[in-house]
Amino acid sequence: MVATPERWIHAAAQPSSQEVTVICGRDKSLTHRAVMFASLASGFSRIHQPLLGADCLSTMDCFRALGVRIETLSPTCVGVISRGFRSFQSPTRDLDCGNSGTTARLMLGILAAQKDLRCRLVGDESLSQRPMRRVVDPLRKMGAEIQGAEQGNFLPLSIRGQLLHPEAIHVDKASAQVKSALILAGLFCEGDTTVTLPTGSRDHSEKLLMRMGAQLQRTQREGLEEIRIHGPFAPLAGEFHIPVDPSSAAFFAVLGLLRSQGVINIPHVLSNPTRIGFLRVLQRMSGALETAEESDLKQTMIEPVFRIRLRGGMALHPTHILPRDVPTLVDEIPILAVAAAFADGPSRFEGLEELRVKESDRLTKTAELLSLAGAEVKIEGDALLIAGGLREVQAFRFDSVGDHRLAMAAAILARLAKKPCCILDAECVRVSFPDFYEVLDTIV
Ligand code: S3P
Repeated sequence: MVATPERWIHAAAQPSSQEVTVICGRDKSLTHRAVMFASLASGFSRIHQPLLGADCLSTMDCFRALGVRIETLSPTCVGVISRGFRSFQSPTRDLDCGNSGTTARLMLGILAAQKDLRCRLVGDESLSQRPMRRVVDPLRKMGAEIQGAEQGNFLPLSIRGQLLHPEAIHVDKASAQVKSALILAGLFCEGDTTVTLPTGSRDHSEKLLMRMGAQLQRTQREGLEEIRIHGPFAPLAGEFHIPVDPSSAAFFAVLGLLRSQGVINIPHVLSNPTRIGFLRVLQRMSGALETAEESDLKQTMIEPVFRIRLRGGMALHPTHILPRDVPTLVDEIPILAVAAAFADGPSRFEGLEELRVKESDRLTKTAELLSLAGAEVKIEGDALLIAGGLREVQAFRFDSVGDHRLAMAAAILARLAKKPCCILDAECVRVSFPDFYEVLDTIV
């Protein structure tokens, strides 16, 4: 058993009343997709300000094993040189997705469609326990050959690339990973692939493909969205400028509201509505949050950005999160739960069953974190009930079990405690926000 490095987080000093600017990490979902589309394109692409977190490095490593050249051109720019997807070679080693569900699921859509290519996808202990049939089953309907334990539900998965055929697929979850895997597979099919699923999940794959000129139609009705992609389509090489990750900014947004005074500013945050459900919740909880569009960056960034401004020292109201809200804030539940613990009344978060199959059972672990800190919390089916009214955070020792979002939520909570708190496996933040603790230390 490997020892899990612990990290002590010390309480923040009395916050300064000055305005501080917090530079958060770049977007994980967009970096994955930029690497993927640049690797599928023939030619030279540059990814500016990519997130060099462990998850995105796993995606880059997979494409290198397929023969794509991916090189660091400067500390803030990665170059991708590819001869296009038709020249991918069968790798001589396993494709290691590490901890990254996005890498594993989206790569399945790409790899299954590479005729004659053979490979095996592997991942770390957490990823090897996460369900893959949500992607494997619909890909099999399109003709994919994928083998693995429990009918292909778990990594390692062996893939024998095929010429896939287009299908009309219904997905019962609002999952961007599943939707994107099928759209990616559809790029290689002759004809129209359609994917129908409940609305709300992030739409970066669709937006990027439309920007590149793919024939992709989107329609919505009665809580369902339909995406129709006409293949074959080869993405174009080009320039990808990555904005700040709203899921990373969320930790500092909540800290900004919970501090006793002072103002936190977070610039260049991706403002895609499918990603900022947490801001809509925080806006309902507090009047101390403003956003301002950064239209000067509109031409450069691959999606629009805004600046978020948060003032500490104001009361937080309780909130009710409904199942239909969850896809737009699925990664922000742990940090929103931290905010709700301080609200002046009980909050209820519903429809959280997906949290049980994230990097850990995040529903149970979020409840554990809050109760260790002295908050009153209960799980009822797939709902989280948080009593609110937390005045003083108890010193705690919390095992993040290697889940980056739990470690960061715990660190924010620890900053609000009077005594030092300990986080186990704290370095897992490298998955999505490698300099998280350094950034946290800049805020007094
Ligand atoms: C992601 C989609 C989300 C999210 C994950 C990244 C993506 O998962 O939780 O961190 O980049 O497509 P699902 O939408 O599949 O639940």
